[in-house]
Amino acid sequence: MTISSIRSFLVLLGALFLSVLAGSAQTRLAATPPMGWNSWNHFAEHVTDADVRSAADMLVSTGMRDAGYVYVNLDDTWQGKRDAQGVLHPNERFPDMKALADYIHSKGLKFGIYSSPGAKTCGGYEGSLGHEDQDAQMYAAWGVDFLKYDLCSMQGDMRKLKAEQPNNPDDEYKLMIDAYRKMGKALQATGRPILYSLCQYGMDQPWKWGPGVGAQMWRTTDDIDDTYNRMMLIASAQAGLAKYAGPGHWNDPDMLEIGNGHMSYDEYKTHMTLWVLLAAPLLAGNDLSKMSEPDKGLLMNKEAIAIDQDPLGKQGDRVWQSGDFSVWTKPLSGGRTAVGFINSAADQRDFAVDLAEIGFPKGASLHDVWSGRDLGRRSGRFNQTIPRHGVALFIFSK
Ligand code: GAL
Repeated sequence: MTISSIRSFLVLLGALFLSVLAGSAQTRLAATPPMGWNSWNHFAEHVTDADVRSAADMLVSTGMRDAGYVYVNLDDTWQGKRDAQGVLHPNERFPDMKALADYIHSKGLKFGIYSSPGAKTCGGYEGSLGHEDQDAQMYAAWGVDFLKYDLCSMQGDMRKLKAEQPNNPDDEYKLMIDAYRKMGKALQATGRPILYSLCQYGMDQPWKWGPGVGAQMWRTTDDIDDTYNRMMLIASAQAGLAKYAGPGHWNDPDMLEIGNGHMSYDEYKTHMTLWVLLAAPLLAGNDLSKMSEPDKGLLMNKEAIAIDQDPLGKQGDRVWQSGDFSVWTKPLSGGRTAVGFINSAADQRDFAVDLAEIGFPKGASLHDVWSGRDLGRRSGRFNQTIPRHGVALFIFSK
């Protein structure tokens, strides 16, 4: 071996070591699915600095922070105009972003913000196109800990490219991936750990390229709304995606609607059950100053949250379906399994399933998560009565 080949070998080894280190830092940013609150589902385009500060206060006073909800994420519509140097200023509803970040941090919480790889956000505000490094540096200077990066107007750019170059279908895809990668690199170059969340509505399988552009999570579908049908449609679309999730990289079936008032208690219970089985990021989307006790009980149930946050980092999947009845399971640490029974029928139903058919030929010891009761050992046929649009959630130990 010559001196120069030894030197090249050592340089390569060093680069490999650094990339492993960087990779693990990226993983540590979201070793378990991120948890917090986001302004969009309730406040949408009306959100103000006062609303975000109040959400931070309420995360603390309700116990949500201590239950794990630490990100305070300001979604779209905070942006004002860029000045002659290209610096983006917040609009009049956000007088001082650094002060807002400091306030959030003083409560032991983290601050999230929103932008788009396109020229405009979905709300028609300024996006980051052409200003990626500048914006990332500004976020870091403010003390931002999380960026949601929403495709929005870049979809138009992609369509335009497709019309111009119909024979090169890969070009529009490359335009989008390059744009997401550019911001991923810009965030990493700030030296501040900023969790990178892609919002691309699940087109073009972001679970396959998300980790490669530096993201810790990516939306898998279009937007959720506060209806049972939409929530269930999104949940069903997660079947088969489990293998793409793990520590540092999560599928995101969108934010929670619990507490926004248009689903029944059982429907919200189904929403929480499915999201924890899916190891989904848990981003509450309600007005925290008006949380009912039942909604608090769902959002802050310790055992349900522990399923979502289990250190094994496995996403659950649908293992059984028959008509309006489905069974989802999620492997947990310690050889346990979380098992959810979902009744999507519009009336109460009695269901029976042979435990052997869902992976427990010798039966299991059952713990009912929502009632907190141990049910002892069960095997063979297991019968339950589940309310309309309701659910049962168990931890099975073999
Ligand atoms: C949508 C996104 C929503 C919200 C909204 C803001 O594209 O999916 O979660 O961020 O834009 O305009």
